[in-house]
Amino acid sequence: METGALRQTQTITNLQAVIAARTDTTTTTDWKQSLPVLTGSKVTLRELELTDAPALFAMLTPEEVSRFISPPPTTVAGFEKFITWAKAERAAGRYACFAVVPHGMDTAVGLFQVRQLEAGFATAEWGFALGSAFWGTGMFVDGGQLVVDFAVETLRVGRLEARACVANGRGNGALRKLGAVQEGVLRRSFLKNGQFLDQMLWSILAEEWRETKAVWGPGLVH
Ligand SMILES: CC(C)(COP(=O)(O)OP(=O)(O)OC[C@H]1O[C@@H](n2cnc3c(N)ncnc32)[C@H](O)[C@@H]1OP(=O)(O)O)[C@@H](O)C(=O)NCCC(=O)NCCS
Repeated sequence: METGALRQTQTITNLQAVIAARTDTTTTTDWKQSLPVLTGSKVTLRELELTDAPALFAMLTPEEVSRFISPPPTTVAGFEKFITWAKAERAAGRYACFAVVPHGMDTAVGLFQVRQLEAGFATAEWGFALGSAFWGTGMFVDGGQLVVDFAVETLRVGRLEARACVANGRGNGALRKLGAVQEGVLRRSFLKNGQFLDQMLWSILAEEWRETKAVWGPGLVH
């Protein structure tokens, strides 16, 4: 290649790097200031607000919802504290928590959360819970697609992990439906009510997700 052409190629490569870096910074800064509103076919996902506390308390504290997850707050005030904490963690760039609001409603019926497992979100873990009246409605898959896409494309997660108690049929079934791959069993890894439970470890890799998305196509509406 001629020297001139080489220099031109290098300039283009440098320019692409500058543009990519600028795009990264913009995206990263935005979500730390406030989470985007993500719109699916059945639900809208948005930042948690203090006013969500009573609805989340009602949806997430019943035994059938909380039996396989870390104990949720036990009062409305406890949920308010959690929401304040979630916003501070988001502002610090370590965590994102979306409220799930079904179309036609204005109250939250559940949440999706993503936390970094290492600085910069290369690996992250996600979790979710919906009020039991909304199970089996398709809202999990609708919201889950939006969250995984946000994790991969905005947070730049390369590996998204999930842990679900082996006995949690719906939790494991939901992850499988979304295309997560079951990797193994984490023996006695979760302490619940004084008892250590086994958990399944699931993962979604960014490149796999992009392939899946290409198949789902217009199902992902932002
Ligand atoms: C996890 C959760 C958000 C999933 O939402 P959901 O609406 O129940 O999920 P879906 O109905 O879309 O999918 C669950 C799948 O598991 C299947 N399933 C249910 N019980 C099952 C069992 N015992 N074994 C295997 N699969 C089971 C369901 O049939 C369904 O698959 P299908 O739609 O092909 O029939 C919801 O159940 C929930 O909030 N649970 C309580 C909190 C929780 O456990 N969170 C997960 C922590 S990992």
